[in-house]
Amino acid sequence: MKTRTVHTCVECGTAHPKWSGQCHGCGAWNSLVEEQLASAADQSASTGAAPLASVDLLGDIDALLAQPQPTGIGELDRVLGGGIVAGSVTVLGGEPGIGKSTLLLQLLAWWPGPTLYVSAEESPQQVRARAERLDATRPELWITADATLAGIIAAIEATEPQLVIVDSIQTVTDPNVAGGAGSVGQVRWCAQQLVAEAKRRNVAVVLVGHVTKEGALAGPRLLEHTVDTVLSFEGDRHHALRVLRAVKHRFGSTDELGLFEMTAQGLLGVPDPSKLFLADRRPSSPGSVVAAAMDGQRPLLVEIQALTTPAPPMAPPRRTAQGLDTGRLALLIAVLQQHTGVRLGGYDVYASAVGGVRLSEPGVDLALLVALVSAGNERPIAEDLVVIGEVGLGGEVRQVAHVARRLAEAARMKYARAIVPMSSPEVRGIELIRVRTAAEASLVANPSPRRERVPS
Ligand code: TYD
Ligand code: MG
Repeated sequence: MKTRTVHTCVECGTAHPKWSGQCHGCGAWNSLVEEQLASAADQSASTGAAPLASVDLLGDIDALLAQPQPTGIGELDRVLGGGIVAGSVTVLGGEPGIGKSTLLLQLLAWWPGPTLYVSAEESPQQVRARAERLDATRPELWITADATLAGIIAAIEATEPQLVIVDSIQTVTDPNVAGGAGSVGQVRWCAQQLVAEAKRRNVAVVLVGHVTKEGALAGPRLLEHTVDTVLSFEGDRHHALRVLRAVKHRFGSTDELGLFEMTAQGLLGVPDPSKLFLADRRPSSPGSVVAAAMDGQRPLLVEIQALTTPAPPMAPPRRTAQGLDTGRLALLIAVLQQHTGVRLGGYDVYASAVGGVRLSEPGVDLALLVALVSAGNERPIAEDLVVIGEVGLGGEVRQVAHVARRLAEAARMKYARAIVPMSSPEVRGIELIRVRTAAEASLVANPSPRRERVPS
């Protein structure tokens, strides 16, 4: 067989004819590895005239086949739009230690029919111990540590499961394919074969895919085109909060997100995230403001904190943001300076979204701006206030998506008043303070600033 050499990105799978330091597909650095592919001439020679595959009228296809089976884990079902579809293949990506194996073991514990767990990273004894802790031991849960492609297919054949977990795809190998476990060629080939197996037997398969910062292993993005669903499990290791989102989902929307808390009993769903995020809030402290944010389709009330301290002489002032966008923070500091006269040029500024959540949407701009003013003036804002709005470069306050849902969530959490953009609709149970500009918002929230603290 003739082969040709390409350089493939381990992050996203883009093939390059020549080696380069940066991937043209996803921009990752030092992520290209050499790969041998069958040459085009060779591939077409093997195609030949194939017998006609079955062709059906769309109207004759039974739509019920794509009915999801609820997993029993509410937050997972929310992200998947109801549950797992038979014959579907899902990749669960995330950094090592984030909780992928824990989540999947809990999924296995709930599944009503026979299941197979291919555990190549932990021994069956370790899995058993963990399953006991999680109360996830079940009579119809089969386990194998054999991570060869042939071994996995044989185990599926023997146990006839409805759901197969492969933990992780980066450990699966086929000796007939070049490259070691975790190489681009192995990961791609083995995943393709498992997808074919899933479709052929109508069994649901979940592949775990580690995301490594160093790109040492072929990443889950490589499989995006091959599978039906790509889930990403994220979180800050220092917080218990874990966020599950769909990056791609053939059977539903990718807007929903699932929230979990890592506890000694495994992952617990967080049905009321606003309550979690606001649990430790000290409303009387300056620089603390509650934002009504959206993550996907879900309204979240999150405390935004800001802190300003005089910058050391001769040093450029620091701007540090945690869970918020640093660029947005710099922009809001500039808007404050130009349009409200609050000058933070000589101050170090720290801002954070509390609770380990990451907010990247513009609807939290105004809350962050008000927090900066409150911190700069050392005056707390009223306890019963939430803030919603995007801030433009001209200092104007702009409308944001789903404002009514954000307000309803604020009303539910017993907030009495909201600072909102002019065009916001009335929502029961909460009084609206409509503002046109950032300057107006900071005056309303912080009526009598101690100006002397902020140099002008
Ligand atoms: P794990 O599911 O092994 O992560 P991954 O498969 O993504 O690599 O989870 C790893 C961490 O979760 C581990 O550091 C311990 C913690 N953990 C708990 O806090 N509680 C639990 O009940 C379990 C099972 C794990
Ligand atoms: Mg694991």
